Amino acid sequence: HMMLREGLYRLNQQAMLHYTHLLTQTPSGEHARNYLEQRGITRDTIKELNLGYSPNRWDDMVLFLKQHKVTKAMAQASGFVLSRRETKGYYDRFRNRIMFPIFDVTRQVAGFGGRVMDDAVPKYLNSPETPVYSKGRILYGLHLSKIHCRQEDTVYIVEGYFDFISLYQCGIKNCVATLGTALSDSHVRLLKGAASRAFLVFDSDMAGINAAKRSIGTFLKEGLDVRIIILPQGQDPDSFVQQNGKSGFEACAKKAMSVIPFLTRAAVDQFGLSVEGKIKIIQEMKEHLARVDDPAARSLYIHELSQTLNIDETAVLEKVRTAFLESAGVSDIAYLPRQDGDTAPETG
Ligand code: GTP
Ligand code: MN
Ligand code: MN
Ligand code: MN
Ligand code: MN
Repeated sequence: HMMLREGLYRLNQQAMLHYTHLLTQTPSGEHARNYLEQRGITRDTIKELNLGYSPNRWDDMVLFLKQHKVTKAMAQASGFVLSRRETKGYYDRFRNRIMFPIFDVTRQVAGFGGRVMDDAVPKYLNSPETPVYSKGRILYGLHLSKIHCRQEDTVYIVEGYFDFISLYQCGIKNCVATLGTALSDSHVRLLKGAASRAFLVFDSDMAGINAAKRSIGTFLKEGLDVRIIILPQGQDPDSFVQQNGKSGFEACAKKAMSVIPFLTRAAVDQFGLSVEGKIKIIQEMKEHLARVDDPAARSLYIHELSQTLNIDETAVLEKVRTAFLESAGVSDIAYLPRQDGDTAPETG
């Protein structure tokens, strides 16, 4: 298995050089060069991120694998080719796409992403899970950004390839991209090794807000300080920073929201402020509030939420307390101290 993994890393490295050659040195790469130029990506960035181009053929990698005398087992494990359905043989997975090599913590090429240059679907295609590529364990760009995350003790977490690339290119180098997948525990552990503060900068659309909401629980569980940067409606970090530059982005970062206010706002947007809406908001927020460790912060958040909902604070407090005890797996709550300082055990 070790041999296979080493072989796959070596093959990925060779494929990366093949793709970068096609992008930068050949006539067939012209369309892709224009595409990147039109998206504001410079030659230096292309070089530093080793961007490439997979040609518009069904057998480019099939031939490449043959020329490099790659075994059938290795070829199949690599994810570059797929079996033909009707006849014998293989065809290329990545065709006519901008290629993004994805490096892992060992700083080797673990896999690839590829983007079409028009409106074709799927817009992006990634390597399948292989012995060296597992999407739950890889953050795009970390091989370059880790040193910068350490320097700033801060990491910006974005969703997409171009989000990372545009931030990095404009000088915000302490960032990583999740590539649209849910943030896993091992992602957060990787991030914890790089910085103690994280900013989520997800797209300001429904998908982005939901992805941010899903990620927050993982952060809180792993004890990383996380805040959320809200971009103007319809923007993602790439489009925003291409339009507004580093200073515009930094102005947004200054206004980043803490987790609880962000979740409250999302819940208010989702459920509205009718009586039924408010009940649902409390149902949702009590779980989050119960996970806030710092009692002063928790008390302030509870105060703020009750003001937002225009409801008695003690009612919210009671809900949070029950949620806390339920999550702690305590069945008989009568014998536990009350959160508001009334430590006398209740009887009855
Ligand atoms: P651009 O249109 O190139 O700016 O892409 P984007 O990054 O803004 O795309 P989007 O916000 O739709 O998605 C964010 C990230 O999710 C992408 O960068 C990809 O990593 C991933 N993603 C998006 N669409 C697809 C898809 O069709 N298939 C796969 N596997 N991943 C996708
Ligand atoms: Mn999006
Ligand atoms: Mn996007
Ligand atoms: Mn985008
Ligand atoms: Mn109060």
